[in-house]
Amino acid sequence: ELTDEERRFSEIIAADSRVEPRDWMPDAYRRTLIRQISQHGHSEIIGMQPEGNWITRAPSLKRKAILMAKVQDEAGHGLYLYSAAQTLGITRDEITEQLITGKAKYSSIFNYPTPTWADMGAIGWLVDGAAICNQVPLCRASYGPYGRAMVRICKEESFHQRQGFEILLTLMQGSPAQREMAQDAVNRWYWPSLMMFGPPDDQSPNSAQSTAWKIKRFSNDELRQRFIGMLVPQAEALGVTLPDPHLRWDEETQQYAHSEIDWTEFFEVLAGRGPMNAERLRARREAHENGAWVREAAAEYARKRLDTRAP
Ligand code: ACO
Repeated sequence: ELTDEERRFSEIIAADSRVEPRDWMPDAYRRTLIRQISQHGHSEIIGMQPEGNWITRAPSLKRKAILMAKVQDEAGHGLYLYSAAQTLGITRDEITEQLITGKAKYSSIFNYPTPTWADMGAIGWLVDGAAICNQVPLCRASYGPYGRAMVRICKEESFHQRQGFEILLTLMQGSPAQREMAQDAVNRWYWPSLMMFGPPDDQSPNSAQSTAWKIKRFSNDELRQRFIGMLVPQAEALGVTLPDPHLRWDEETQQYAHSEIDWTEFFEVLAGRGPMNAERLRARREAHENGAWVREAAAEYARKRLDTRAP
């Protein structure tokens, strides 16, 4: 027997309507959203590092201004997402604590290094491309604050993807060494970008329930497949080769067949053993500690203002 609250919640989900912060919701739904939204926010915050690394070295003033704007957008996305998570009852301190103690996950993709300028192109094209593919369906997620945050985030992500594509296009029209640098970056980012969509469907413990709750609208493998289909013509336009010798159109399934993804690498990165995991957390922790005086000053300022207003 369903309680009235449970029935009301099921009706909202069935009607493709939105669950709002003050509505009753099952605990497991709340926990799943806190998990996904906070991990998503952490990905944006940690995701500032691989590109922040290139702000001082961007090859022109214009490139620097664009890259700076992009990294600032990521900070903004992180903050909207943390705010959306806070509507579910977790505090900002708890969210931060989970990240800096290494308890929380964030996207595997940000644990790879960015040794060349072409990495800025590959990240925009592949990483932000994958992010859009995964996030456009999340605009219809059943939880209102999350879906609405996604709308603006996706608009900004499409600008990010265009700028990455354009960096690669410029390099591909340059010298042989520049073309080689672009291809090398694509070779390094292609497989990790496919891993962003998460484990294969038969190894994705959260998918069934998240789909039933209409948080997820497509499976990890479906979105990954859609992404590959998007990339093939774009790679042709760029003149880069996607580093998969077995990639081919399959008439029978009407989709691209591809080589096996190295899931061992994915699970190693998730376990904290990717090339940059330790460095990303170290830098995040250091930034948090260096910001302690700002938090203290802000709290003190707020306290004093309250004091002076008191009757
Ligand atoms: N990197 C790190 N962890 C991952 C990744 C990944 N690429 N993919 C899956 N995982 C984790 C899941 O978080 C889950 O761990 P948990 O249960 O401890 O939280 C576990 O692997 C199993 O995966 P699933 O059961 O498939 O998990 P889920 O249903 O949450 O699907 C997905 C994973 C598709 C990433 C989903 O959480 C999602 O759409 N999140 C929002 C988008 C997002 O976070 N993007 C971040 C990168 S894009 C950007 O910031 C630019």
